[in-house]
Amino acid sequence: MLKKIAVIGGGNIGGVLVQEIARRKLARTIAVTDPAPFINPNDPPEKQEVTRKQSVSKGKALDILEALPVMPADVRIEASRDYDVLAGAEMVISTAGVPRKARPDGTFPSREELLAINLKVTKHVADAIGQYCKNAFVINIANPLDAIVYTLYKKLAPPKNMLCGMAGVLDSARYRYFVAEAVGVSVENVEALVLGGHGDDMVPIRSCCRVAGMPVEKFLSKEKLDAIESRTRKAGGEVVGLLGFGSAFVSPAFSALEMAEAVIYDKRKIIPVCTLLEGEYGVNGLFVGVPAIMGAHGVEKVIEADLTDAEKAALGKSVDVVKKTSAEVDAAG
Ligand code: LAC
Repeated sequence: MLKKIAVIGGGNIGGVLVQEIARRKLARTIAVTDPAPFINPNDPPEKQEVTRKQSVSKGKALDILEALPVMPADVRIEASRDYDVLAGAEMVISTAGVPRKARPDGTFPSREELLAINLKVTKHVADAIGQYCKNAFVINIANPLDAIVYTLYKKLAPPKNMLCGMAGVLDSARYRYFVAEAVGVSVENVEALVLGGHGDDMVPIRSCCRVAGMPVEKFLSKEKLDAIESRTRKAGGEVVGLLGFGSAFVSPAFSALEMAEAVIYDKRKIIPVCTLLEGEYGVNGLFVGVPAIMGAHGVEKVIEADLTDAEKAALGKSVDVVKKTSAEVDAAG
């Protein structure tokens, strides 16, 4: 059990995170911060006053606190509109940013299109972490994932093992689920890796996919696997299209917790994680999803998987997208 884990953003992912951190008793104190609802300066003062008294993070925290006796879990939750509750956090999970949302015509933006707005939010997040808990281990979930982690790295300059992004666990979980469903076996039997950037060019690594230790090709045809991998690449959007009000939140929260638990329990578990590459996979200076050992020291060691030529080419294409959004971060200053 850590002394304190802070969750930045009390939205859909943040809410599930706080609930699960409490239920799993991962920290003595859970802090959650969210500025919503936004106070509109054009509203009459009375309306602004009402809005100021409301707080999504406080509301969610109170709801979860009142569930503690029947959960049961004996933890503390601190909620605020401000970032001061981050003080003393040993781990921060940041969800802060605008999620993808279906437009009235049913289309939705790419994750990359969220960059401009979420860069503004990330600036505040970086300042807050720097001010209140600069030695914390940080997991970012906000999109576009790889570029936001890169932004946090540029602003905070932490040791590279202490900052990472959650995407590969989620993308791999989706791949695992689709394979398990198609084969008709337990999800527990399927092991899979999805690497690269967290965009529609992500790379499901077929050569690393196993069903009870056996190559996936033994169970599914090439055509079926092509279709599953294509669905995996677009799986986030599929949920956005169905939900209408936002993007996936249960699977991202649980995926981040998989990473958090690897660190909290010093599991030294190999997990696909968005981490700084310094020559591995032929990439330098970018945050990209690759398998790495996660343990007490955070992201402890990148593992270089043996990829086929086609997988290497696909990874190169995905890295090019990360390079482009990271260059946009550089250009934004
Ligand atoms: C997704 C978002 C969280 O893939 O990036 O669902």
